Amino acid sequence: MAYVIRAWLKHPKDVCTICPSSPYLTENIANRDCIRDASVVLELGPGAGGTTAALLKQMRPDSRLLAIEKMPAFREALEKIADPRFSLEIGDAVNLLETIEAHGFSRPDVIVSGIPFSALPAAVAAAIVRSVHEALAPAGAFIAYQIRSDIEQHAFPLFGPSKCEVIALNIPPLKVYQWTKLV
Ligand SMILES: C[S@@+](CC[C@H](N)C(=O)[O-])C[C@H]1O[C@@H](n2cnc3c(N)ncnc32)[C@H](O)[C@@H]1O
Repeated sequence: MAYVIRAWLKHPKDVCTICPSSPYLTENIANRDCIRDASVVLELGPGAGGTTAALLKQMRPDSRLLAIEKMPAFREALEKIADPRFSLEIGDAVNLLETIEAHGFSRPDVIVSGIPFSALPAAVAAAIVRSVHEALAPAGAFIAYQIRSDIEQHAFPLFGPSKCEVIALNIPPLKVYQWTKLV
């Protein structure tokens, strides 16, 4: 919690909320067949790592997770994740293919994003979603948890319609979207 508040005070638009995701939300995001089946998961915006821990709990022993977090304030918390499947990049979620290759990962089967797309300039949000689409393996899944629905306008032209669920037991209540990359 302290990591989140400190990061939020410095960059409120990027961090968006002072409460880490609730266990109900992290469970909803991670407890999916696509996460259990994945060889590679890419996480954008892990924050202090609550979502990361939930994903690793569901993932196979031989899978790998790369997390990309923009705020260096979260480095210390994320570096405490002592799991050999986990790798961290402190940086911006742009040019995802380049970052994935630099870490020696293959294309992700799933990309999970907590980046608050509604707080970004539309051109930046669109560029990140394009990079997500480009980086995903064929038939891969894109999962995004969001306060607002702005992401739909960027994702629809590339992915088509989403499946969306509202998680009320979170501060604030959030929508969890899932798209599949058409082969
Ligand atoms: C709403 S918080 C989610 C944090 C955590 N996953 C959770 O659920 O509690 C959004 C996170 O996205 C990060 N973020 C925002 N823009 C980003 C970007 N362009 N690249 C990487 N991370 C970004 C923020 O620093 C923050 O940690």
